[in-house]
Amino acid sequence: MSTESNQNKLKAAIIGCGRVSIKHIKAISKLDDKITLCALVDNNPDAPSHLLSGAKLKSGALSKIRSTMKTYLDYKEMLEAVHPDIVAITVPSGLHYQIAKDCLLAGANILLEKPMTMSNTACKELYELAESQGLKIAMGHIYRYFPIVSLIAEDVKNGKFGKIGHGSVIVRWGHENEYYSQAAWRGTWKSDGGALMNQTVHALDLMCYLMNTEATRVTGMIASRFRDMEAEDTALGVFACQNGALCQVEGTTATSPDDHEASFYINAENACIRIALRKGKPSYSITTNKGKNLAFRYLRRYIKQFGLFYLIAVAKNPHFGIYSDLYQAILSKGSPIADGRSGYLAVDMVLGFYRSVLEKQEISLPLSEEFPIESMAQISLK
Ligand SMILES: NC(=O)c1ccc[n+]([C@@H]2O[C@H](COP(=O)([O-])OP(=O)(O)OC[C@H]3O[C@@H](n4cnc5c(N)ncnc54)[C@H](O)[C@@H]3O)[C@@H](O)[C@H]2O)c1
Repeated sequence: MSTESNQNKLKAAIIGCGRVSIKHIKAISKLDDKITLCALVDNNPDAPSHLLSGAKLKSGALSKIRSTMKTYLDYKEMLEAVHPDIVAITVPSGLHYQIAKDCLLAGANILLEKPMTMSNTACKELYELAESQGLKIAMGHIYRYFPIVSLIAEDVKNGKFGKIGHGSVIVRWGHENEYYSQAAWRGTWKSDGGALMNQTVHALDLMCYLMNTEATRVTGMIASRFRDMEAEDTALGVFACQNGALCQVEGTTATSPDDHEASFYINAENACIRIALRKGKPSYSITTNKGKNLAFRYLRRYIKQFGLFYLIAVAKNPHFGIYSDLYQAILSKGSPIADGRSGYLAVDMVLGFYRSVLEKQEISLPLSEEFPIESMAQISLK
């Protein structure tokens, strides 16, 4: 930890300076009283400067970052030189496991982008390793950090809404073929997976978080309808939960990129909860059986608890919430809202769906053994 005016200031590094790292650098620059960016790492030497220009930071914030930060081509060299408190891992998904493991072994807390890794056993190994080292893993499960979501989850857990009946989640997160041809890893079974593993994994996590449960059985169907990619562009499925609730799932990347939608519906005994993000605009309703919408009440409570600045910052960039929460978790020795176990369970679910497609049957969770995602390449999706 640093010896600057804030004695608890933490040193952060980002490994992987591509598309999503822009969200990270923006979040870190807004938290500059708590976190100092010390390193940007990318094996493409041009990537850090593209990131710095692409983030469009205000000139003061940019010069502050430039003054504290060094760039590296090799993350191991960075770990040795910088000894960061936090490492954000924003490389292609197939590389998450090894880099995350090396960072944990070097004593760093990690902010790991979703999906946690491409393997259920690797995810489990990572969160157990972090726990044994007393380190934190925060997952890039952005939906958990949307305004008022944590309060709703808290109240579901407290029993305010009664028993959970069923849920429904829709992720229509379209990308054109150009997105898949931009980088060789995208849309491949080995390094990315399809609509479920890339676009839907954190939405599945949110459903379990909001329903205060874990999935126990899954079954799904997948296809590749419109996109030129190895894995699926469309998936449909259902899962059953420990608490008896059922949930249906639609995840696709084959819709229009101009009409992104992620929506979450929960039918509880005493209320019906709807959270949605459509074309970047959030909407919430928590409607009781008496027809009362509690959304504003939650918003007021959220502002009272976290403040207006925080609300606006997470609404604009949920990664701000992930960093703030991880910072608190490290200082208070608590657990991040989206912790390593949530990363593992979400990947386990996705792999359960894939296995149900491969074996044409319902699959029990958690998976009892490693499911190698590459085995999906043997089926035709067209
Ligand atoms: N949470 C979210 O909302 C969200 C959104 C988008 C992407 N993601 C996840 O973030 C990750 C990255 O996605 P992206 O779209 O930014 O990818 P990207 O291809 O745009 O960027 C990846 C970067 O990693 C670099 N890289 C590759 N191998 C490296 C290595 N060994 N060492 C250092 N750098 C290396 C590449 O050069 C590239 O700059 C993926 O896992 C993706 O699923 C999360």
